[in-house]
Amino acid sequence: FPASHSPLLPSPPPPRQVVAVQGRARSSRMTLPHFTAHTPMFMSVGTQGSVKGLTTQQLEELDCHVILGNTYHLQNRPGSELVAEMGGLHDFINWPRGMLTDSGGFQMVSLLHLAEITEQGVTFQSPVDGSTLLLTPEESIAIQNRLGADIIMALDDVVPTTANDPARFEEATHRTTRWIDRCLAAHSRPHEQNLFGIVQGGLDPRLREISMQVGSKRGRSGVGWGGVGWGGESGDDFWRVVSQCTAGLPAGKPRYVMGIGYPLDIVVCSALGADMFDSVYPTRTARFGVTLVPEGTLKLKNSIYARDFRPLDPGCSCMVCQRYSRAYLHNVVTRGAISSAAILVTYHNVAYTQSLTRGMRQAIEEQRFPEWVRNYLKTMFPKGD
Ligand code: GUN
Ligand code: ZN
Repeated sequence: FPASHSPLLPSPPPPRQVVAVQGRARSSRMTLPHFTAHTPMFMSVGTQGSVKGLTTQQLEELDCHVILGNTYHLQNRPGSELVAEMGGLHDFINWPRGMLTDSGGFQMVSLLHLAEITEQGVTFQSPVDGSTLLLTPEESIAIQNRLGADIIMALDDVVPTTANDPARFEEATHRTTRWIDRCLAAHSRPHEQNLFGIVQGGLDPRLREISMQVGSKRGRSGVGWGGVGWGGESGDDFWRVVSQCTAGLPAGKPRYVMGIGYPLDIVVCSALGADMFDSVYPTRTARFGVTLVPEGTLKLKNSIYARDFRPLDPGCSCMVCQRYSRAYLHNVVTRGAISSAAILVTYHNVAYTQSLTRGMRQAIEEQRFPEWVRNYLKTMFPKGD
């Protein structure tokens, strides 16, 4: 199938001011309907609308600019119609800043083994009542239009990079482009919501190139790329795709690496010129007592913390690091009060990711980013490994 040539609604990039560039890294301000977001930025994931364990007031206090919600989960419960009646996602969860919703296909493919993808869309069994449902590009956009996020994502055909099936990657790449056209044509609020396209193409540089070329000619307001970082490909393959996408996508539009959330990956992707990231990692891992620190992670269940009276991260100024010791949190984690520990570690982990991206922006703006990256790596890998 060639890509379709339907007339596309204009969808200009969100007004963006590049504050500074150093090497390939950029620091910028992106004006969204609800907030001016600073990039590089990490978006915490509030699958059901809220980030687990944190209030929207805490997310503001933690300097989160944009949070992410999922079309698939929100449509299951409470349903986009209800959210629309409540005035949209922002009013429903009482979050005054930026929101982004992912289109749903990826969540279905990664969560449901029964999802089946055809040209029409993604067919799946409702987890609520078992009935067969079809999510088309048009339906995904209709749902996202009702939810009302500042940034909405096109429905994409996602194939795990470990699938050993070149024909399937070829099909998924071109289908993703055709679906973007259908999404653009279905978008009913182009002046209130920024529709981002998605680049796919697996690990094949030729397919990634096609996906980017076609994508950047269309009137979409930003570009995400997916299909890497979760499928189990090697680190080298991952970096090759990220580097190709940041080098090949237009400089004027925001670039979003979907599903990336290890701090080291956020730093390297930013150095390669990516602007936006999201992942459940910092918040999910917190619920297991895993704490992000400049040296890597602290696994709070470990008995070495039983008498460690330092804060989680002595360099962190967050409320948790001001008030609680590792020893206390170790005690809470191992005494079965994991849910209260989870909230505190989540709070710190979100503070950590926000201060990481803030630190990078500052370093780029002050033209000392290479030194910042060297320090970051030296702290994380003191033995140089
Ligand atoms: N989140 C992480 N990876 C992906 C992807 O490839 N597509 C979408 N839509 N969301 C993602
Ligand atoms: Zn902290």
